[in-house]
Amino acid sequence: MFGANELGQTLSVGELSKRSGVPVSAIHFYEEKGLIKSWRTEGNQRRFPRGMLRVVAIIKAAQSVGFSLLEIAETLKLLPQDRSPSQADWQKISTKWKKDLEERITHMTKLKDQLNSCIGCGCLSLKECPLRNPKDRLAKKGPGAALL
Ligand code: FES
Repeated sequence: MFGANELGQTLSVGELSKRSGVPVSAIHFYEEKGLIKSWRTEGNQRRFPRGMLRVVAIIKAAQSVGFSLLEIAETLKLLPQDRSPSQADWQKISTKWKKDLEERITHMTKLKDQLNSCIGCGCLSLKECPLRNPKDRLAKKGPGAALL
């Protein structure tokens, strides 16, 4: 991750933590999960390219809107690996995430509506409850017991 032209200014894990506002333990965790990468000096100290600050900022932004580390890792793979993320990269990622969130909101709204039909019902029927049997054809006709 990142080319030689971005390696001139490097940060220790402590500097990356201080400047990003993310605890050192979280930086280590991100690295362990493959979200960020460092290399070791001859003295075995971790060094990060300065541009890693933007990657960490993207990770934090993604976490704040509810994306999992696995989802974040998948998205980070779409970024150029030879330089820090640009404004255009962020535009692309944030647009994708907005679309993903809209799909989630639609799905959650549908689940909420189905749950509304369960309130006061209590059948928990595999045959009739859309939450118990979400792929049921009858569920497409709307929430609640359709055969009553
Ligand atoms: S409990 Fe879900 S429809 Fe009855």
